[in-house]
Amino acid sequence: MNYSGYSPTEVYSGEGCVLSFRRFSLLGSRCLVITGKNMHKHNSALSDVQVALNNENISYYIITDAENNPSVKSIFSIASYVKSFHADFIIGIGGGSSMDTAKAVAIAAANEDLNEENFFFVDYNAPSIPVVLIGTTAGTGSEVMPSAVLTVGGDIPIKKSVKTRNSYAKYSLCDYTYTLSMPDGITVSTALDTICHSLEAIYSKKGGEWSKIYGHAALKRTFPALYEFVKGNKDISLRESLYFGSILGGYAINNGGTSFPHSMGYMLTTMHNIHHGFACAVFINEFIRRISGICDVSETLLACGVNSVEEFTNMIDSIMSVYYVKPYIEQSSIAKYAELAMKMNVNNNYLNLSLDDCINIYNNCVEVRG
Ligand SMILES: [Fe+2]
Repeated sequence: MNYSGYSPTEVYSGEGCVLSFRRFSLLGSRCLVITGKNMHKHNSALSDVQVALNNENISYYIITDAENNPSVKSIFSIASYVKSFHADFIIGIGGGSSMDTAKAVAIAAANEDLNEENFFFVDYNAPSIPVVLIGTTAGTGSEVMPSAVLTVGGDIPIKKSVKTRNSYAKYSLCDYTYTLSMPDGITVSTALDTICHSLEAIYSKKGGEWSKIYGHAALKRTFPALYEFVKGNKDISLRESLYFGSILGGYAINNGGTSFPHSMGYMLTTMHNIHHGFACAVFINEFIRRISGICDVSETLLACGVNSVEEFTNMIDSIMSVYYVKPYIEQSSIAKYAELAMKMNVNNNYLNLSLDDCINIYNNCVEVRG
């Protein structure tokens, strides 16, 4: 039995937990705040942070340039502000992209020897600027993970992650009310991301007991809440369940990592502009069908509140049919995507997928033409 683990982030949760936070000054007196362009328009997270920083007399500089699917170039560009502003710590506000940007910037700014070419080879014990994360979506789980997922260019851009032992957030402040302003489609996509994180971690090769415990706890909060949400129930308690589920899913992949739905979904995001959660969920039914052939999935089905794999897949299909529009992908692209996926975490499970298996999975799950 493997229950080794490392998860040092202090998590504070609940409505108003940012406004009432009084520990920023433990990290220093100057702060770089990183967020996306339109964050201030959608919720009060940024203004709450400003109030809280003012309460502790902390000087801050706000960068609103966090990219969706951040590039390495953008990380080093923002890292220069950490140095010029002499920031003691960084606050990342937003969804996965903003939080991952904050973590990556913290690594880049703390290590003079790093550059755009060698960034992904950073030593695991390298230092990092202290980071505080404030999530405004409910899916990524980035709040409790050390890794930052970045987009690396090329004919077909791919995702690569960077992390160190020290890139966990010092504090994560989880106020689910910030997620209320998410459009329905983004709410659904991010919840599907949580479901993918949970399933992939539960059945991962790298995972131990924590990935199973956290993964099933995440599914228990997320799967029924998502189904209620898409049926039209907009009770605020569902938002709290979805946010807590996303944090639990973060703990699950922190222990187990992701596998083929994420690896194969990345290209749908980078090449076809499919939102991350939908891009991964495209493959989740194929994943559970294949996994159920080699593993006992009864605990997983119980956590989701369904009686069979067929009931699970039908529910995913019904959700996807409302919110997701399938892209058409050229047959000539499929083999290239499959080759790239094989270089990622496709086989962080016991399915032992071959290149042909990956091609078949793409053909089963997306609309192929040509
Ligand atoms: Fe994800």
